[in-house]
Amino acid sequence: MGKDVIIALDFPSAEKTYEFLDKFTGRKPFVKIGMELFYAEGPGIVREIKKRGHKVFLDLKLHDIPNTVKGGMQSLRDLGVDMTNVHASGGIKMMQAAVEGLTREDGTRPILIAVTQLTSTSQEMMTDELLIERPIADVVVKYAANAKAAGLDGVVCSPLEAGRIHEEIGASFMTVTPGIRFAGDAKGDQSRVTTPEKAKEIGSDYIVVGRSITAAADPVEAYERAMRDFVN
Ligand code: C5P
Repeated sequence: MGKDVIIALDFPSAEKTYEFLDKFTGRKPFVKIGMELFYAEGPGIVREIKKRGHKVFLDLKLHDIPNTVKGGMQSLRDLGVDMTNVHASGGIKMMQAAVEGLTREDGTRPILIAVTQLTSTSQEMMTDELLIERPIADVVVKYAANAKAAGLDGVVCSPLEAGRIHEEIGASFMTVTPGIRFAGDAKGDQSRVTTPEKAKEIGSDYIVVGRSITAAADPVEAYERAMRDFVN
């Protein structure tokens, strides 16, 4: 399980997405479809990218009352995605409902992970705007424990938190980590970022890389570099 680079396909249209994917001749990177592309193109884009042979992480971060999340997951279940997610802040009952909705009749289901705190969230924002006084790392570990209790497979977290999650929640509990930048890249709107090498050292299972690959002068070369630094 794990140790792969997932490219975030944060594009506004199918056309732009295929233009990007067509650069990867002969390679089929694991990709992430988020709300920008999904809301623009609908479920058909997921089926099409699966048909092209990619593994798909559908990153819609569901967060609603348990019954609604269960229904949403039932609709996603049949799309053939490999991985999808919810917000852990929806609570244990909501996450259990997500597991129920996603599980197929034969008992199998795609990987289900929970977002702990977004990697754009800083300690200051959490304290001042959300009135959460505890250190961000403690909040992330508690949300991860809730996700494990609800039967999920892992969490989305900052690579800086992946080590502590493996220590406290379990080595096999999956950590999927965005907030990745090559040394020298701009942080953009992310707060808690690190490099692919460092994420490997800390023990992330998957890294999610968006702009450092999609906005690179040579995206294929940037992907190869991330694979070299993180997987090999
Ligand atoms: O361009 P960049 O590498 O910052 O993209 C990171 C991707 O990971 C985006 O698609 C973003 O939605 C996603 N993500 C994140 N932080 C989370 C969960 C998902 O940045 N906690």
